[in-house]
Parts: sequence; C-alpha cells; structure tokens
Amino acid sequence: MEAPSNITIKGILGLLTANTDGCKKVISLGMGDPTAYSCFRTTRTAQNAVVEALQSANFNGYSPTVGLPQTRKAIAEYLSKDLPYTLHSDDVYITAGCTQAIETTLSILTRPGANILLPRPGFPIYGLCAAFRHLEARYFDLLPHNQWEVDLKALQGLADHNTVAMVIINPGNPCGNVYTYRHLKEIAETAKRLGIVVIADEVYGHLAFGADPFVAMGVFGSVAPVITLGSLSKRWLVPGWRLGWLVTSDPHGKSPKFMERLKKYCDINGGPATFIQAAVPAIVGETQQAFFTKTNNLLKQTSEICYWKIKEMDCISCPSKPQGSMAFMVKLNVSLLKDISDDIDFCFKLAKEESVILLPGAAVGLKNWLRITFAVEPSSLDEALQRVNSFCQRHSCN
Ligand SMILES: Cc1ncc(COP(=O)(O)O)c(C=O)c1O
Repeated sequence: MEAPSNITIKGILGLLTANTDGCKKVISLGMGDPTAYSCFRTTRTAQNAVVEALQSANFNGYSPTVGLPQTRKAIAEYLSKDLPYTLHSDDVYITAGCTQAIETTLSILTRPGANILLPRPGFPIYGLCAAFRHLEARYFDLLPHNQWEVDLKALQGLADHNTVAMVIINPGNPCGNVYTYRHLKEIAETAKRLGIVVIADEVYGHLAFGADPFVAMGVFGSVAPVITLGSLSKRWLVPGWRLGWLVTSDPHGKSPKFMERLKKYCDINGGPATFIQAAVPAIVGETQQAFFTKTNNLLKQTSEICYWKIKEMDCISCPSKPQGSMAFMVKLNVSLLKDISDDIDFCFKLAKEESVILLPGAAVGLKNWLRITFAVEPSSLDEALQRVNSFCQRHSCN
C-alpha cells in the first residue's frame, strides 16, 4: 500500500538543505525549532524538574496510557487559568507532543465518509493524518489582508452532514496570527450552527506579542464542543521532550462512546516518557513569568527584524504583521524576478546560492508565498535576511 503523497515540512526542508553548496554557513529560517540558539534555552526550573524526576528512580515504569494522574491534574490546572470554568484531570489526555494529539484526534473522529475542514495555509500534518485515516480534507481559506482570519462564509459552504470538525491554529503557524476574542466567538458560533467540533491547536499558546492577547478557544467551550491540543514544545522551548496534551470540553457533556474510543486509542499510543510526565507539575507550576516575558520579547524583536527587512525587498511583501507564534507568511511577486518560476524554484535557488533555507508556501498550501521562521538568534536572522535581499537584487528584472 502506498503512503499518501502529501508534502511534509521536514521532507522539503531536508531537500533544500541538501541543495546548499557548502560555501557559506547554512542559516535555516525554515523550521520551528529554536533550540540551536542559546537565547532560546528553556528554564532551569524545567531542567531541574526533569533531572529530579529521573534521579528519583520512581518513574522508570509504564505510566497509565492516558497519562500520569499528577500530570493530567497539572495540565488541567494550568489550562483552567485561561478559562471561565475548571477543567478536571479526566478532561486531559497526555500525548507524545502535540503531533500525537493531532493524530489521536483525527483517528478517533473519523468514520466512513467523514470529512474535516482544515485551514489553508495550514500545518501539513493535519492533511497527512487525514489521508492516512481516509478522512476527507476540505480546505477553507485564511484571509491574508484580514489578519489571517477564517473565511467563515466560505467555510460554511464546505460543510455538510458528514463534516466532523474544523481545525483552527491560534496563535497561528504558518501565518503568525493571533485571533481576537470576537473572531474566536464567531468561529465557535459557526461550529455550533454546523454541529461540528472545533479542534483548537494551541501549541503556540501564549506566544502572543502584538496588540491582541492570546484567548483560549476553550473559553467558548459552552458554545461548541472544543478539543484543545497543546504541548510544552514551544512555550517552554523543549520540542524534543515530546510532552503534549489533548483536552476535551463539550457543552452537552461527554459522549461515553467518544471517551471510550479516546481511551482505547491512548492504549495503542502509549504516551510520552514517564519521567518527563512526572516533571510536568513542577514545570507548569513553578516556571517564573520572567522566562515567558523574555521569550515573547525576543520573538517580538526577531519578528520586527523580519518584518522591516522584508519591507525593503521589492519582490516580497507582508500583508499582516506577525503577532504571535514563531513564523509568518510573506508573498512572493515572481513577475519582478527574471529567472525564478515560483516559490519552490525561489527556495531551491536561494538554498544553493546563499545557503539560506526558507519554506516554500506550496508546502503549507499557498503557492508563491514563503514561510519565514523568526525564532532565530537576531544576528543570524540579520545575516540570513541580508543574503535573501542580495539574492532578490541579483535576480531582479530591473
Ligand atoms: C501548528 C502546529 N501544531 C502542532 C505542532 C507539533 O507540535 P509538537 O512538536 O509538540 O509535536 C507544530 C510544530 O511545529 C505546529 O506548528
């Protein structure tokens, strides 16, 4: 049997990196993993919590497949701070990163003939998981000139009686959007009208540094059923620890059938390493606000560097200034370039000539756009954007 043919971000970034010529140091603005840079290091609180859990020798065994009770409780308490109601431990399922939370959610929602509404541009793992599960993916547009809000009118036209859920990513990858309270409420009301679940990917939760604060989709859990997905990966800068969660809130109470499927699916997956789970109560309970503020200030600084440097380039434009997450989208005007056919050609030639890696928009569903990751140390970012500028000038029609 063949694997689905969807593009993956890791796959295309690997090809681009292989296309660099080795003359200059490779700088990647392609991947949302900032841990290579010392300015994006996690807190000592988190490190110590893991060391302590490991050295205690109390967590060398299997955990319950839904997660350790103290881990579920700690995540319930952590997320409840953003909500008008209290989550309970048994609303929380611990997963191996947000990726496994995505895979679990799509697997348990699917049934013969079902479809799911996904954002375009989006995070390709959703399309890939849907394809493996024979869940039809239907794509709704995010509006670049409207802070990448969901085109809700068009979305309603896509849904039918076989639609099981819609996905929103907030703060957004790949767009760098942070949705307002008003827009999230409209999303919840639309989901209610359509009788579907909102899958809220909040892996970048709280990484918001623009005018609008981060609002959790679960705030509207009394309007429509919400499944919130998240992880420690981004806010704690530890994507390699593989600690994520899936959280349910449903205005009509939980369907016993759904919960049964979810628990069984967790039995298949097994969940993340027990000692990492055991460190979670200290990680989420004791991390100082100063650490989060430092990260957000740095991301604000690096996003501004990108935004203003891009503004100097004729062939690239940015309709919505990034407000959160670690990446944003910019539009490529290939008609101003003499020998570049599209975004993919641009990225391959850029990698070859300048050893700078950018993600072609095609990989996230938008041809002739580029995704730029700004979770990069400022001096490397400066250098990379300078190289992009030289490249654009060299290939300019003028
Ligand atoms: C939107 C989105 N969801 C999920 C994930 C996966 O998160 P994790 O690394 O915790 O598996 C990512 C990773 O970049 C992401 O950007």
